[in-house]
Amino acid sequence: MKTYLVTGGAGFIGSNFIHYMLGKYGDSIEIINVDKLTYAGNLENLKDVENLPNYHFVKADICDKDAIRAVFHDYDVDRVIHFAAESHVDRSIREPELFVKTNVLGTANMLNCAKEAWELPDGSFREGKKFCHVSTDEVYGSLPEDPDAYFYETTPYQPHSPYSASKASSDMLVKAYHDTYGFPMNITNCSNNYGPYQFPEKLIPLMINNALAGRKLPVYGDGRNVRDWLYVEDHCKAIDLVSEKGISGETYNVGGHNEKQNIEIVKTIIEVLREELSDDDPRKANVSEDLIEYVEDRKGHDRRYAIAPDKIHKELGWLPETMFREGIRMTIKWYFDHMDWMEHITSGNYQQYYEKMYGDRKVIG
Ligand code: NAD
Ligand code: DAU
Repeated sequence: MKTYLVTGGAGFIGSNFIHYMLGKYGDSIEIINVDKLTYAGNLENLKDVENLPNYHFVKADICDKDAIRAVFHDYDVDRVIHFAAESHVDRSIREPELFVKTNVLGTANMLNCAKEAWELPDGSFREGKKFCHVSTDEVYGSLPEDPDAYFYETTPYQPHSPYSASKASSDMLVKAYHDTYGFPMNITNCSNNYGPYQFPEKLIPLMINNALAGRKLPVYGDGRNVRDWLYVEDHCKAIDLVSEKGISGETYNVGGHNEKQNIEIVKTIIEVLREELSDDDPRKANVSEDLIEYVEDRKGHDRRYAIAPDKIHKELGWLPETMFREGIRMTIKWYFDHMDWMEHITSGNYQQYYEKMYGDRKVIG
């Protein structure tokens, strides 16, 4: 039985990963979910697995040395799948130090505790152990609009936001542990994910939630920044594959060759929402392009991200399976079926967050 220590498993990708892994491997694996439950962590995401005998939840901060040591003491961990992070760029612009603490110092602590648990007296590492660090394409910086320019594993790091700088630092630490100690690891650098359980501070769920409430859809700047969108389950499959077959020390870029301007995404959401809402649903009348409002740009806003996933395709056989139109429809249907989930997370501090982030943003068109 393989034992996975998943950090940040109550967040968006982490909870999707836990569902995917338990669905695929059933009781032949054991999962320990370590999460601090920040605003982004929600145990409601894991309601259907919480009573399984091979799933365990530990509420802990990845920066807490004693707590993380205790997890390695209590379980013979084979894989660390390290998702836990502060993940929202806009928040990092307002509160950069928190990002350094969680993403850099938290990762350093995870690495130290894993090394301590896995290292043998001769300095080598116990067989079959690996640390999989889940990172982002944002570490590579921003691409020009030239459609032939892509991020490769060899592209030099050039992060611009406090978020991406903190993720870049954490990647560097993971690589340094490999180069210095021979620590077994992989890094995945993935593009923008979308799908179920995504917190409505990120573009797609924020737009779905606002449109259904008849609230303005705040598009930053000219709306033509490009992101490369991947359905979250495809990302989970890539992480599983890298965890199983990735060569220690290697980095793999993960992306779907699915570049879209933000304004296209917003218009697609409006279109699909209108198709999915029945004519007698009172919300349908609200959902139109009239809701789109161009607002003051994000500071330091990266123009374009685009991943070249050639290496993970050629070496490990990974390919994205969900087409965008299908993925966005599944996502919208998921939100329709889980309006109570959305209500629970937007009923508390979310209103204050929204006011702070959007209340003083200038409307530019
Ligand atoms: P998220 O914000 O939805 O979830 C983060 C989770 O980490 C939450 O459950 C939160 O409670 C937990 N957490 C935060 N600080 C913690 C701490 N100090 N100790 C323990 N737990 C803590 O994030 P996400 O979108 O699911 O992203 C997960 C990972 O994937 C991140 O490392 C992110 O950088 C990376 N990533 C995200 C995307 C994306 O599009 N969302 C793309 C590529 C990579
Ligand atoms: O590329 C991977 C990264 O994708 C991950 O590492 C991050 O954790 C994740 O948050 C995401 O970062 P982005 O900044 O690209 O995602 P976000 O959903 O915040 O924004 C997507 C684009 O939409 C970006 O160009 C900013 C724009 N935007 C966003 C919001 C929230 C708007 O125009 N309006 C909005 O209200």
